[in-house]
Amino acid sequence: MNSQEPLIDSHGRRIDYLRVSLTDLCNFRCVYCMPAEGIPFLSPSKYLTRSEIVRFVRLIGQLGVTRVRLTGGEPLLRRDILDIIHALKEIETVRDLSITTNASRLGPLVEPLKEAGLDRINISLDSMEPERFKAVTLSDTFHQVLEAVFLALQAGFPVKLNMVVLKGLTRQEIVQFVRLARDYPLEVRFLEFMPLCGTGWRPDLVLPIQDVRSIVFENFELEELLRNGNVAQSFAVRGGKGSVGFIASLTESFCDSCSRIRLTADGKIRPCLFSEKEVSIKELLRNNAPDEEIIRTIRHAAAIKPKGNWFNEKPFRSDEDYDSIFASNPMIRTLGG
Ligand code: 5AD
Ligand code: SF4
Repeated sequence: MNSQEPLIDSHGRRIDYLRVSLTDLCNFRCVYCMPAEGIPFLSPSKYLTRSEIVRFVRLIGQLGVTRVRLTGGEPLLRRDILDIIHALKEIETVRDLSITTNASRLGPLVEPLKEAGLDRINISLDSMEPERFKAVTLSDTFHQVLEAVFLALQAGFPVKLNMVVLKGLTRQEIVQFVRLARDYPLEVRFLEFMPLCGTGWRPDLVLPIQDVRSIVFENFELEELLRNGNVAQSFAVRGGKGSVGFIASLTESFCDSCSRIRLTADGKIRPCLFSEKEVSIKELLRNNAPDEEIIRTIRHAAAIKPKGNWFNEKPFRSDEDYDSIFASNPMIRTLGG
């Protein structure tokens, strides 16, 4: 292997984790992500091909990026998903290959994904109640998703369930989620709703994660687990099989320990999810540019990674804080709340 100087950004953070978006298409319309009518999706020729993605991962791997997560849109909508996983798994530097999926089509793919070499699966599961699941995702697939969770566990995958905390989440549902983590060897992670640059920001739906945390602690005995650079603060459910995590991306900044970089489906490197900064790498990949040139571009993208995001500069305390910060941010203002 052609090992090089590790990838370190201008703020001294070591980048070792890559998230690759395989497509912007999705068969869900989660309220926090996109409008019911969808977004203007990319035309197929805009997507990086499997071999372009594989080359990128091989080169960034030489810079010490050893963990790779496949995302979307919905990554399982890529027809060549199994070939992509198989090829990425052959790259010596890829020590941990995972996927984040809405799991609506995961069931029949669990075994093939295992065979292709996938290491771990994160599943978005926003509600434990079919009706509310449908209201949040605009999808009628609650039962398929839940079944896929169990199939993934049966196949031996480490599984994390991501649930985005939104107004309307009931105490009963929170308890149901934690019971799932008590009874099965999986981690349920409560994610604070984040104002991403997409079209789903709804300040009226924000429910502080602290409210969820209090309800969890009132009902269960938990033991804190070592954080280990993890974005989630995780707790084992005492006497149970799994764990519960809280990801407070809005109210607690973890930018200082951020180790991530992203590759978009259309071949742009995004050093931070919350910034519009991006560096296109598609042309270089498509024109078969020399390795050194691609590596130089990757290093440039890391060098412009922002120190923090705009909403973590001032921690939230009250409703007025939310209102004033969002009113003053041009990216959000255009979304019409
Ligand atoms: N805030 C919080 N989480 C989000 N996700 C997508 N958009 C948002 C948002 N605005 C979650 C999805 C999925 C993971 C990739 O991120 O539910 O689990
Ligand atoms: Fe699809 Fe994920 Fe967005 Fe939901 S959050 S619409 S599952 S891409």
